Amino acid sequence: KEFNVAVVGATGAVGRMMLQVLEERNFPVKNLRLFASERSRGLKIPFKGEEIEVEVLGEQKSFSGIDIALFSAGASRSLEYAPKFAADGAVVVDNSSAWRMDPQVPLVVPEVNPHAVADYKNKGIIANPNCSTIQMVVALKPLYDFSRIKRVVVSTYQAVSGAGQKAINELMDQTKAWCKGETLPEPQVFPHQIAFNCLPHIDVFLDNGYTKEEMKMVNETKKIMEDEKIGVTATTVRVPVFYGHAEAVNIETEKKISAEKARELLSNFPGIVVIDEPGEKKYPLQIEIAGRDEVFVGRIREDESIENGLNLWVVADNLRKGAATNAVQIAELLAEKYL
Ligand code: A2P
Repeated sequence: KEFNVAVVGATGAVGRMMLQVLEERNFPVKNLRLFASERSRGLKIPFKGEEIEVEVLGEQKSFSGIDIALFSAGASRSLEYAPKFAADGAVVVDNSSAWRMDPQVPLVVPEVNPHAVADYKNKGIIANPNCSTIQMVVALKPLYDFSRIKRVVVSTYQAVSGAGQKAINELMDQTKAWCKGETLPEPQVFPHQIAFNCLPHIDVFLDNGYTKEEMKMVNETKKIMEDEKIGVTATTVRVPVFYGHAEAVNIETEKKISAEKARELLSNFPGIVVIDEPGEKKYPLQIEIAGRDEVFVGRIREDESIENGLNLWVVADNLRKGAATNAVQIAELLAEKYL
């Protein structure tokens, strides 16, 4: 069986990766439609050896005939158009934050809560979680299945590509100017210089002093893990890395999990690769895992300051497992089991 697929935001960093991943995984695409803004009018994007012209979102009378629509064009486009695509018969897999916490909308990481996909029937929408949340819950799941997790303390080291193509260009342009000894161009995407700097500020600040990115990690983790009682506290930091998010994750469990046991549980879990030979200088590195679809875990060790604690270093490609790959995996579940 083949499916009519749409990618909304097809010209963006995540949208382009969605096309690449659909192609790599040989998703059964019958017809493909691409949508972006007025800025991309007339642009043609290659897919499986064909050139497909981008349509300007909003100029269509209807969206009928689309089976699966992958959205990554920002939350306001998702709020407006996901219900329209769904009303015309598509199942929307939305990469924005717009629908994630809607109780009617499932929030899915296929390795963790694949059963939740069934709830697409409520609104015709499935939400793809935040990039930092996805890679963390994949690493938490095999440990959680062995012993309930009470609390997680996470600090992130997030690549600029998570903020889109303009952010990638901003790091590049600032770095080039710095190398030439020129005055750095004014930041447009980030609140401060990102080259040779770390910014403890991703998305907007909320009344509680946390950023929205930090609270996404708190709230989405509870929803995906289906456990409101997991305590999560996060500090999310943008670092001058192009591709790949890293996270230092501290976990407190109910039962003791030795480092050795954790290594075994993580190694046996689908979608995780353990790289943990510190003596050989082997641990997951952003520049090495960019381009890969798995979640990489290393630096696995017991937290000696508490009874049942672990520390992990978790790294994944934010445009792939953190966004496009996870969305395409959800589409694969839909295609195999539901549509
Ligand atoms: P466009 O390239 O035409 O601006 P990124 O996250 O890399 O910045 O990408 C955002 C994606 O969302 C792009 O494909 C962008 O299209 C798309 N997009 C942004 N604003 C709109 C809009 N008003 N209507 C449709 N697509 C939009």
